[in-house]
Amino acid sequence: MSDLTPQIQRLVIFGATGDLAARMLLPSLYFLDSDKLLPDGLKIIGSARSEMDRDAFVKLVRGIMDKRSEGVDEAVWKRFAERLDYCAADVTKGAGLKALSEVIEGRPSIYYLALSPSLYGAVCRALDESGLSCGECRIVLEKPLGHDAESSRAINAEVAEVFEESRVFRIDHYLGKETVQNLIALRFANTLFEPLWNNLAIDHVQITVAETEGVGDRWPYYDEYGALRDMVQNHMLQLLTLIAMEPPADAGADSVRDEKVKVLKSLRPFSRHDAQQMAVRGQYKAGVVEGKTVKSYEEERGGPSQTETFVALRADIDNWRWAGVPFFLRTGKRLPERRTQIAIQFKPLPHSIFGQAADNDLSANRLVIDLQPKEDISLLLMNRRPGLAGTRLQALPLSLSLDDGGRRRIAYERLLLDVILNNPQLFVRRDEVELAWAWIDGVADSWADSGQAPRPYAAGSWGPAGAFALLERSGRAWLDE
Ligand code: BG6
Repeated sequence: MSDLTPQIQRLVIFGATGDLAARMLLPSLYFLDSDKLLPDGLKIIGSARSEMDRDAFVKLVRGIMDKRSEGVDEAVWKRFAERLDYCAADVTKGAGLKALSEVIEGRPSIYYLALSPSLYGAVCRALDESGLSCGECRIVLEKPLGHDAESSRAINAEVAEVFEESRVFRIDHYLGKETVQNLIALRFANTLFEPLWNNLAIDHVQITVAETEGVGDRWPYYDEYGALRDMVQNHMLQLLTLIAMEPPADAGADSVRDEKVKVLKSLRPFSRHDAQQMAVRGQYKAGVVEGKTVKSYEEERGGPSQTETFVALRADIDNWRWAGVPFFLRTGKRLPERRTQIAIQFKPLPHSIFGQAADNDLSANRLVIDLQPKEDISLLLMNRRPGLAGTRLQALPLSLSLDDGGRRRIAYERLLLDVILNNPQLFVRRDEVELAWAWIDGVADSWADSGQAPRPYAAGSWGPAGAFALLERSGRAWLDE
């Protein structure tokens, strides 16, 4: 890329030897470079506690790229490798950043904190003390931002002492996914849906994020958070807000985020009673996933735990558009298949003219947005089965596959590019994070008050029985049932 944002000259990854950098950040930067989207002269500086020279870091990054299936283009690699540098640092102390400040030489920089959020405040202070927080500098924060509303406010406040909000980029990698960005286009670049996008036409919404993977080695982090805080607080509530928000005046970052905030403010808070009726938690036991026998969560963790690896809950949005339309959210580890999907279920026909046999064929229209593994938007429509026998009906999908056969981008590519371009639309604003936490605290508190322990489910199943009862209570069912 040429001269769009010539001011950013350094991108520092704190935590450069960690898992996120290896799986997401460094490959994303390589692919951006391959598409010539990185600014000329941008240096990428890895930083971590361990001592390593530049050559060793370049070798480490090359090893990461070699392990990927896409293959490495030598010309791109040469250009990319020249950008790489490494600087060991103790990020929590101003003095620990002395060597880094010599590499940065006062140039405008992006600091990516791929570190434990408990360090964010200390790192910001250290950057400030070392003169590394200049007015053009930006900071990128990974989730989880806190453990509840109070701790997230504390982290945000510490960061804000050094970086004002316009320079803080809070990542929710779901917002970088192509299909998630496409939700905005689907809703606001078509006239078709908007008149139907309300409680007159929509019966309910289901959002499922199902994973086949277990928690595995991540349990020290996961055990403290659980599925509610790990997935619902961020990714799933973000999806919900994009579905539920009012049309913004324009696509500007604050116009969109203002609308998302209004949805979060309209979420009906949970009461103690709701714990039993509205939210189910589960934990996987041993079972079979994709033909393989797998261990229980407690076996992976090496002891008993009260952490949930599955959540299903009902969210109600108390506003004119959505009154009476439940949003059912479900996420879990060790489920039968990997699937991230939003389904908008329309209301049934008010009256059928087709007679008994055809009536049995009828199903209400449904818009299904598949985010992964396939990327597809399909509208389920009723039509007549061909033939001379009496009228029979069938539901067929009108499908818009988003798979163009090309490489699927890593969500972080979009997000890293946007930080470089200083475009905060796909980043989470402070008030969004804090409101999302406040609602999640209500769910967690109602579980705690009622002493609701996670219900067991066999790995490879769709969660505990309560998850089915949650929908049955209102005469509905999960779409895979
Ligand atoms: C992360 C969670 O934020 O998202 C993980 O911490 C989860 O537990 C992951 O596995 C899911 O992301 P994706 O992009 O694979 O759906």
